Amino acid sequence: MATPAERAAREHFASWARANEYKLSQDRVGNLFARREGKRKDASPIVAGSHLDTVKTGGAYDGAYGVAGAMCALELLDARNVSTEHPIEAAAWVGEEGSRFPLGCLGSAVFAGLTPADHALALADETGTTLGDALAHEAGGLLRNVPQRENNDIAAYVELHVEQGPILERAGVRLGIVTAIASQRRFRVTLEGDSGHAGTVPMAIRSDSLGGAAEIILAIESRARTLGEAVVTVGRMTVEPGSANVIPSRVTFTVDMRSPHDANVDAIEQSLRDALSRTAASRGLRTALESLEERSATPMTPHMREAVRRGANATGERSMDVPSGAGHDTMCIAAIAPVAMIFVPSIGGVSHVGVEKTSDADLELGVETLAAALVEVDRDLRA
Ligand code: GLV
Ligand code: MN
Ligand code: MN
Repeated sequence: MATPAERAAREHFASWARANEYKLSQDRVGNLFARREGKRKDASPIVAGSHLDTVKTGGAYDGAYGVAGAMCALELLDARNVSTEHPIEAAAWVGEEGSRFPLGCLGSAVFAGLTPADHALALADETGTTLGDALAHEAGGLLRNVPQRENNDIAAYVELHVEQGPILERAGVRLGIVTAIASQRRFRVTLEGDSGHAGTVPMAIRSDSLGGAAEIILAIESRARTLGEAVVTVGRMTVEPGSANVIPSRVTFTVDMRSPHDANVDAIEQSLRDALSRTAASRGLRTALESLEERSATPMTPHMREAVRRGANATGERSMDVPSGAGHDTMCIAAIAPVAMIFVPSIGGVSHVGVEKTSDADLELGVETLAAALVEVDRDLRA
């Protein structure tokens, strides 16, 4: 996030908006909006969007497709001379992945008022640079000459995204209507023991923090397996001092836990807490558990799902209901507006890896569905 590549994408979004005479705005953390006016100038906008950032090893579709798809949907409405009552906006959220600053859905959380902007701007990356500094001074900073967005009033939100899993492809269906987004919690765990010489300290008197981390990770994995419909991932770990012949004194790692059911996430969190105290006692480790984020399961708004279904039907293509195991900006926007999501298939069900891909035909179908769904939502809001 806040990298030159993201900046280039945001500049592209801005010049596209200007070229199409859409009203551009930006907020304090760098979220960008392009507004296609409706017949009622005072009406709150219907917003379609997603995020521009990726995970470090990510591909080109997770997030960026939903932004590009929203841009294409606005252009489709123009090309077909469709006029809506409500303004329709394309949104590009920042920092959805939490890869650089330790908060997922950062931009949409600030927009929805779930995280104060000042708190987000004070978050530091691994080098100690804060988001505020990065936006003010780095190449990826805020765009100049873009008006500040005045408020967060929105009438509805629709996010188009690649599925990132195998359900649609396996069912041979090209459009997914999301039912709910899984509950998700993320923690940072720190274990501190004693360093020492790898060759001289007998096993019986060691306080090895990395061995302790291994025990904890296996315990939470095993809990998720027995629960079913739950996943847990340790995706990042630092080991200090990090030498082959020195007993690790300090280990820090993240734990990401998810399930469609909040109760399963509660159970994995409990197993993490139990394993931490067991391991601390048996190995003589000092421990710290820090909650990085927590989002309950997010059901999509029933009338919005139906509007998307009508949009999907209008394309003549079959659709099916699917859950989302991945998190999305929609989780945050759901706090302030009715929401829905549209999925298109991910080839091989893979995502968060460089080779993620969706066929051009499915990408186009998603855009057609989004454009039709936006018109349906506008109609619903009028009724
Ligand atoms: C975002 O892609 C997430 O699900 O972590
Ligand atoms: Mn992602
Ligand atoms: Mn995404």
